Order: sequence, then structure tokens, then C-alpha cells
Amino acid sequence: MIGQVEDERESKTRTMRFTLNIWRQNGPADIGRFVTYDAHDISAGMSFLEMLDSVNQRLIAKGEEPVAFEQDCREGICGSCSLVINGIPHGPDRGITTCQLYMRRFRDGAVITIEPWRARAFPIIKDLVVDRRALDRVTQAGGYISVNTGGAVDGNVLLIGKDQAETAMDAASCIGCGACVAACKNASAMLFVAAKVSHLAILPQGKPERTRRVRAMVEAMDREGFGACGNQYECEAVCPKRISVRFIATLNREYLRSGVVESGLLTEPESPHAESA
Ligand code: SF4
Ligand code: FES
Repeated sequence: MIGQVEDERESKTRTMRFTLNIWRQNGPADIGRFVTYDAHDISAGMSFLEMLDSVNQRLIAKGEEPVAFEQDCREGICGSCSLVINGIPHGPDRGITTCQLYMRRFRDGAVITIEPWRARAFPIIKDLVVDRRALDRVTQAGGYISVNTGGAVDGNVLLIGKDQAETAMDAASCIGCGACVAACKNASAMLFVAAKVSHLAILPQGKPERTRRVRAMVEAMDREGFGACGNQYECEAVCPKRISVRFIATLNREYLRSGVVESGLLTEPESPHAESA
């Protein structure tokens, strides 16, 4: 315990120095380039975004334009902090977002390359900020359950098994960050769409709209310019919420099933109280 306290104290007081190669781009039409910055007096206990704050404070003090990057919660919840660090979306650690990455993870004196998500469906707005609204439009196409007005249904009316509830929760933990797209050489959004489709299709409340949902979301995904799944699982490797690629299998099954329903060989339940295949 004493050793741990000393480690934490040392981590807070130790300062480090880094060479940063940061992508700078004035706007969507600009060609963009890497610019090298010296980041010094960086506390080992700083988060990656705090390190960028420190670099920006120095740039502002010198009258230079700060580096634009996206962030919000800084707690791994919102999915805003979309940075590719040394070629890996969200950096070298597994199961965390960029805002949860600490500078003590890097070697003192290291050269760190920082880029935005790169995908046709995510045009660069400025520097490290990309437009990820394509994911919102895919969700708007079907990633919801329609609720009709009327008396609220008692929460315990629909009994859901523990395994079913936990699997749905695993899929629902997707924060829509887009790291899966940035990691994929095809810029595929299959893991994201699979998570959204699966968490609703697994639960009884999501079953009545499952046919329309999966077709609408897959069509929206294609329309937005995301590529096809390459079955190489980079998406799962970088996902901060460790969403499993087995949900892509669920998505494929849901899509196939929707074809059977549309052909009239299978009927959809009209209420969440009725289960279907
Ligand atoms: S599946 Fe994972 S990597 Fe992809 S958007 Fe969701 S949380 Fe981010
Ligand atoms: S800033 Fe919200 S997840 Fe990183």
C-alpha cells in the first residue's frame, strides 16, 4: 500500500518530454500535413488529452493556433476523443478511450504520431476533428424502439433471462466512437451496426421492428460510404468497450432472417410479448 502511494506520487511529480508529430489541416479542402511539436514538462500522471491541453496552452502563449481535437466527458463515456495514436485508434492500450490513456504509458523521450480517424465517411473538419455524423444517421435509420403513447407498462411484465440481458448489455455498451471504422482497412462500420442491431434484436422489446431495423441500418451504412467487413477483427481489437465480433455474426443472421420474413415464409410478432425465431 505504501509502495502504491509512492508510485502514484512519483507518477504525479515525474516530468517527461515527447516529440509529437500532429496532423494539422485547416479545413476539409486543405491538403493537411504533419507538424512536429516539442511537448516538455509533461507530468507522467497527465492523461493524453491533458498533455494536448498543455501543448495548446504553449501554442496560444506564443500566438499560434492551437491544435483542434474533439473531447467531452473525459471519462470513456461519450466517444468523442477520436485520435489515432502511433497508428492505433485510441492508442496502445486495450479497452480504453484516448481520454483514459496516461502519459506514463509512453517512454520518456518517445516520438508520438497523432492523426484523426481516417475514413471516407468521416471527412476531416479541422486538424484532429472529423465529422462522425454518418454514425448518427445510421442509428436514426433504425437503432431505436418505437414507443406508442398510453399507460406505461410495468417494468417486470417482460421477464428477460440473465444471459439474454447480459448479452444485450454487452452490445449496448457501444459508445459510437468510430474507432472500429478507423481501424478497418475497408473503413467498415459493421461492428458499430452489429452492436446497435444486436442489442435491440436480442431483447423482446426490439423484436417487433427487427426486420425493418436491420434492413434500414444496413442500407444506411452502405449509403454513408462505409466499406465491407474484411473479417480481420481490427475493429474488436481497438474497441474501447471490447464489443465482440460475434455480434457481426448476429447482424448477418438478422439480415438473412429479414430476407426470409420479406419473402413471407416467416411472420414478425406484433408485440414484444410474443417471441419469434
Ligand atoms: S463498436 Fe466499439 S469501436 Fe465501434 S463505435 Fe462502438 S464502441 Fe466504438
Ligand atoms: S472524451 Fe468522452 S470518451 Fe473520451
